[in-house]
Amino acid sequence: MTPQVCLEIAVTAARAAGGYARAQRHRRGEANQRLAHDVKLALDVECQGIVEAIIRERAPGHAILGEESVGAAESGDDRTPLWIVDPIDGTVNFSHGLPFWCCSIGVRLGARSLAGAVYAPDTDELYTATCDGPALCNGAPLHVSSVAAVRDSLIMTGLDKQLDPRLPPFEIFRAISVRAQKARIIGSAALDLCHVAAGRADAYFEQGIYIWDIAAAALIVERAGGRAEQIGDMGHGRLRFLASNGSIHEAVKDIIARVQQDKTQAEG
Ligand code: IPD
Repeated sequence: MTPQVCLEIAVTAARAAGGYARAQRHRRGEANQRLAHDVKLALDVECQGIVEAIIRERAPGHAILGEESVGAAESGDDRTPLWIVDPIDGTVNFSHGLPFWCCSIGVRLGARSLAGAVYAPDTDELYTATCDGPALCNGAPLHVSSVAAVRDSLIMTGLDKQLDPRLPPFEIFRAISVRAQKARIIGSAALDLCHVAAGRADAYFEQGIYIWDIAAAALIVERAGGRAEQIGDMGHGRLRFLASNGSIHEAVKDIIARVQQDKTQAEG
């Protein structure tokens, strides 16, 4: 299956699930589970089902890994594409009625990203890319910003939903805030990355996110001329992830590394 065909299926599925969630938003309070800093919605599971049904019909035999996997999570290999699905990214926003949420679907073959689609129903924005094509928003080409210094940058971030006391999310947030022109937390990792791809933000960093939060949009950043990098593995599928316009990548990475170092020294 070509990357373009994968993208067409991902777009169909993202639009179907996102449209369904939007139509059903009066049910946004129906929670299967409430956690201190997160919520698991009935609509999350229903949207995952919609995406899976479309993939199973149009890409039979492919593997699916979803945040809300209805069956057991599957894994791909070098010959079996893996569809990585976050049916509602920004679930807490959605549950409060904030418009910053989306459906995110990435397709990988082994370590290679083939295609990614991120659909934000409330703003009707569809971000897409294939490994051999441009990054687009509603068909218009995207390009990362040309901001070259952290002091001039706007950096998107998020606070680890587990707020693990051994990790320094607030210290990193503080360090970024004092060095950048602005730090922002919007609450949807996939949309944060799309803002970097569109040149509206210059970098995105978060720790404690999962592959489904970033699989589609990382490719969109790269195809928009930026850089996307997993900079750590926290275990249990939790990642530390940095994406940027490329120009400020190393500087932001240094800020994060220094905070981490200081924390380790203070503890040692
Ligand atoms: C969450 C959002 C949020 C980020 C969390 C993610 P979810 O995804 O992307 O911005 O801070 O780390 O888990 O749970 O809404 O799909």
